[in-house]
Amino acid sequence: MAAFTVNGKLVTVEKNQKLIRSLRDDLGLTSVKDGCSEGACGTCTVLIDGKPTRACIPQTDKLEGKSVLTVEGLTDFEKQVYTYAFGQAGAVQCGFCIPGMVMCAKALLDGNPNPAREEAAFAIRNNICRCTGYVKIIDAILLAAELLRAGEVPEIPSDWSLG
Ligand code: FES
Ligand code: FES
Repeated sequence: MAAFTVNGKLVTVEKNQKLIRSLRDDLGLTSVKDGCSEGACGTCTVLIDGKPTRACIPQTDKLEGKSVLTVEGLTDFEKQVYTYAFGQAGAVQCGFCIPGMVMCAKALLDGNPNPAREEAAFAIRNNICRCTGYVKIIDAILLAAELLRAGEVPEIPSDWSLG
């Protein structure tokens, strides 16, 4: 058994299990994607005490007192920033890798609001995307950094297809 916070709320997990199972199956936080279940793809990345961590690795019993953050726990402003930046940069194809990419971006930008391109690339070095070739994801992270620094997000263009 362990007690820790998830997106700011205290949870007590009775059964010792992989964090990803607790987040997805018990708490319904389905932004946490299960790409490989074995630490190889990065799609399940969440922040634990601010550090990008693959949720398919730690057992919940090891998380006593820790703080877990998923995409669902971002602020409304952060959600707007990442939605706009990834959409505008054309960084989303199937979308499966994106929550993990966003959490890596958040960890980077929380500590380094104006990263170099190489630093953005380094931040997602452990995350696999089978669709985009990474260039547009790095563009999106740099655009998110710009928007966070500016403190505002442009209107979503009307020609975006949201369907
Ligand atoms: S599902 Fe966790 S690293 Fe692939
Ligand atoms: S957008 Fe499809 S895996 Fe990255």
